[in-house]
Amino acid sequence: MASAVHFYDQQPIASGARSMREEILEGLRAPQKYSSPKYLYDQRGSELFELICQQPEYYPTRIEEGILATMVDEIANLVGQNATLMELGSGASRKVRLLLECLQITSYLGIDISRDFLLESTRKLAEDYPWLEVHAACADFCQRLRLPRNLNCERLVGFFPGSSIGNFEPSGAQAFLGGLHRTLPKGSGLLIGVDLLKDRATLEAAYNDAAGVTAQFNLNLLHRLERELGANLDPDRFSHKAVFNEELGRIEMHLVSTMAQVISVAGESFRFRAGETLHTENSYKYSVAGFQAMARRAGFASRAVWTDRQQHFSVHYL
Ligand code: AVI
Repeated sequence: MASAVHFYDQQPIASGARSMREEILEGLRAPQKYSSPKYLYDQRGSELFELICQQPEYYPTRIEEGILATMVDEIANLVGQNATLMELGSGASRKVRLLLECLQITSYLGIDISRDFLLESTRKLAEDYPWLEVHAACADFCQRLRLPRNLNCERLVGFFPGSSIGNFEPSGAQAFLGGLHRTLPKGSGLLIGVDLLKDRATLEAAYNDAAGVTAQFNLNLLHRLERELGANLDPDRFSHKAVFNEELGRIEMHLVSTMAQVISVAGESFRFRAGETLHTENSYKYSVAGFQAMARRAGFASRAVWTDRQQHFSVHYL
């Protein structure tokens, strides 16, 4: 019999929380058109992101998994016994599998915005690890977190891999970490992956893979606008662009309008000049010391940090 997953559909609690329609329209009305990176992750976007992680140029996944697999005993020592592991943006829940055999945890909570994807991956997890109590919450973890009531929260260890922290603006990242610090009970911890600053060529190759998967991932946003907001546009009239903004320490992803055109979204028209862009994502890169300083300002103490030999990626235990 398949093991059960305790599932929670969490509507945002903040009264100021806005719909996708409102946020997308606000972004399209701005002088530099933008869209929150969270809208890249519908079912198709989540599948494409998993494919990105398998591309040879996209080093973060490979290196982070190597660090987790090599350091799992040290991580297990820091996590201790009988904790609940709470994975933020759990996606395919692949990385957590590198830890589960060694960590002496009792339960797992996966949180993700992509409902079907979350259900499928946590069901598989519950099947493969029958001793583990598996919880799944469909929620936007950027909003204030509500912990499910029947979860053992005495010791909660956050797991935030993949350098998703880099998709927040630095002020937002610090506020997010501060919020997590307030949510986690005393004696808890946070295991977090952070991509490091490095040379432009390596960074830009990672976001412009030769197979064009990142391009499809970026362009999927336009297909999503068609599907979900009744947008009238032609995705073939846009192209993918990812560049390293050295001054701001971030990779920027844009959709470039290849011609002058007018699109409509939710009944509202938007004009694009040829070459004008819709800014879809920032991916900030940090130094080890820079990230530790930010975590400290958010209330966390650094207990351990591991990097690969080339110093491409870091995993912190806070
Ligand atoms: C999820 N996040 C950490 C990825 C990143 O590298 O910023 C998203 C991504 N965008 C393009 N490629 C990967």
